[in-house]
Amino acid sequence: MDKTVTILGIETSCDETAAAVVRNGKEILSSVVASQVKLHEKYGGVVPEIASRAHLEKILPVVREAMEQAHVGPEDLSAVAIANQPGLSIALMVGVTAAKTLAFGWNKPLVAINHLHAHLQSALISAEHIHLPAVALIVSGGHTSLYEAQSALELKLLGSTIDDAAGEAFDKVATILNLPYPGGPNIEKTARQGNPKAIDFPRSLLEGQSLDFSFSGLKTAVLYYCQGQDMSGQNRVATMTPQEIADVAASFQQAVIDTLVIKTRRAAKQIGARTVLMGGGVAANSTLREAMQVMCDKHRLILLVAPKPLCTDNAAMVASLAYYKYQAGQFAGLDLEPIATS
Ligand code: KG4
Ligand code: ZN
Repeated sequence: MDKTVTILGIETSCDETAAAVVRNGKEILSSVVASQVKLHEKYGGVVPEIASRAHLEKILPVVREAMEQAHVGPEDLSAVAIANQPGLSIALMVGVTAAKTLAFGWNKPLVAINHLHAHLQSALISAEHIHLPAVALIVSGGHTSLYEAQSALELKLLGSTIDDAAGEAFDKVATILNLPYPGGPNIEKTARQGNPKAIDFPRSLLEGQSLDFSFSGLKTAVLYYCQGQDMSGQNRVATMTPQEIADVAASFQQAVIDTLVIKTRRAAKQIGARTVLMGGGVAANSTLREAMQVMCDKHRLILLVAPKPLCTDNAAMVASLAYYKYQAGQFAGLDLEPIATS
């Protein structure tokens, strides 16, 4: 009997229109991502209406390309999977409607996927075996959360940001430093030339054993540093040397990384974890990856981190996680709705 399970995954939660075909949860046959960065960069952030319209234009070509690259037709598919939460409602709506229509038209089961859980799955795609329990850190533009993972499908929230997400802080600090959008990769690039110890920006650890995060104080500290405490002066950034800007970027980045690493270590200790999982856009940051690896080596934890191309939004992580829901018989109805919150 043929046990091959081939799933088409679709992702439209924010500003990437993505489709992928994954076999048996592990083998990525195709992963197509149409980025909207060019459309949003002049606004310095994602504009929901523009995102939704672009998804509408791209969704069918992207699905078609993913199927072509994978050399599969509808008859080869076992299911259609869609990330239906969390995200921007009018962006999610496009993917949800497309996935429901395709599932109905092709007579395939529909699998609903939580986008954040899918980010963690991207850390597990190439893992043969996972030693549980695991602490899972999701660091993206919209979320910074720690979970206890008992399996790919069982996650218990341990803590999350009480204000800005880490990626959001990267993006806002990039704007303060007049670096191009999206901020994260550009801060990382600029920080390479800077001294991470140049400025002692605050690390908000939220006292005691807290596993929550807060990054708005750090962002404000960078703003004050660049514009003066009273905020009345001219933005100093225009007169800063490239070295000074690089020092601010490196010192800010180090403050975020220190916080993420300390909190992850704290969570691992609290639950007696053997493994650390890390995914989400900010997990693409090389300095973070190295610092997390150093911490894990020191405390004999296994680090499983998403491969860089799977850190930012994609549909391979959606189709991969859907395999496990498919095997568990967890299907969605054609009345599936987008849900903005997690
Ligand atoms: O996971 P993602 O693609 O979308 C959300 O689900 O939010 O994450 C996007 C976020 C953005 O804030 C972006 O600036 C950040 O991830 N990011 C990075 C890097 N690459 C992307 N942050 C730091 N360093 C990077 N190399
Ligand atoms: Zn994401």
